[in-house]
Amino acid sequence: SRSINLAVIPGDGIGQEVVAQGLKVLNAVLPQDVKLETKEFDFGAKRYHATGETLTDADVEELKQHDAILLGAIGDPSVPSGVLERGFLLKLRFLFDHHVNLRPSKLLPGVATPLKGQPEIDFIVVREGTEGPYTGNGGSIRTGTPHEVATEVSVNTAFGVERVVRDAFARAQARPRKKLTLVHKNNVLAYAGHLWTNVFNRVAKEFPEVTTDYIHVDAATIYLVTDPGRFDVIVTDNLFGDIITDLAAAVSGGIGVAASGNINPSREFPSMFEPVHGSAPDIAGQGKADPSATVLSVGLLLRHLGFEAEAARIEDAVSADLAERGETVRTTEQIGDALAVRVAR
Ligand code: IPM
Ligand code: MN
Repeated sequence: SRSINLAVIPGDGIGQEVVAQGLKVLNAVLPQDVKLETKEFDFGAKRYHATGETLTDADVEELKQHDAILLGAIGDPSVPSGVLERGFLLKLRFLFDHHVNLRPSKLLPGVATPLKGQPEIDFIVVREGTEGPYTGNGGSIRTGTPHEVATEVSVNTAFGVERVVRDAFARAQARPRKKLTLVHKNNVLAYAGHLWTNVFNRVAKEFPEVTTDYIHVDAATIYLVTDPGRFDVIVTDNLFGDIITDLAAAVSGGIGVAASGNINPSREFPSMFEPVHGSAPDIAGQGKADPSATVLSVGLLLRHLGFEAEAARIEDAVSADLAERGETVRTTEQIGDALAVRVAR
């Protein structure tokens, strides 16, 4: 019989609350014959303060034993900026080779957007997850002096670029519009831009049905606001992807509904699914957080593990819930309950 061995990392702030609802909906959507086993891990600010550790080698070995990871949010104002980001989140992305950072943007009916005229928004961003300026390749000399020199080298390998570009083409091929846009800055970033553009054009020949397009990242931010309907699938570098997916979330319903997957398509290591939002310490513990982004991330998790029908039921449930939500204010738990009822139907 089928089974899912899931590592659960609620993390900090609202992470706890939203993950509880994500698990509730997961339990409700899974067929009887699927055995769900969960193990909770206490990573985050509390563990860091208690032990000084963010993620040990033993933790990594234990996480590896799972089929997937559900993460709430990691981060707290009591921990210096960057410690948990680099010591936990980025560390896991690198160790588990999460090279496909998948971030869908879909403006669902009834959801408010700051854009004029309720445009059609339905695209996915395939953000490279293990290279670019995120590798920690750089340094500083004369640090703290008026003559400080700091470098932050963007690492782009043919192997790394090709595998993410290939993944994006395959995703574009599987969608009705079959369109893939490369977002980069090849007019200025000559070396990395050359590599990305070359690989993109070469792989494109293997996907003749996919329409291709290229846009500089600065122009892409304009189109995301003025004409988001032009995008179907976007593939881009780690840092550009970080920036444009926040904008994409903002125009398509906000981070309350933005889901993401840190995916290792080979399944050699567990992939990790998380809402795009952070731990929001200002509203933590008040039952105010919208668990929809986490629930949608559970949907991405299920699709990754091959539970396509269940993933679709989750997306339909969130979509229906948002459409009927109107001005009603509900607690985190009430939204989770409503979604659990819907997916069980
Ligand atoms: C994200 C976050 C992370 C990133 C931070 C917290 C390191 O902004 O998941 O988009 O930059 O990738
Ligand atoms: Mn980000």
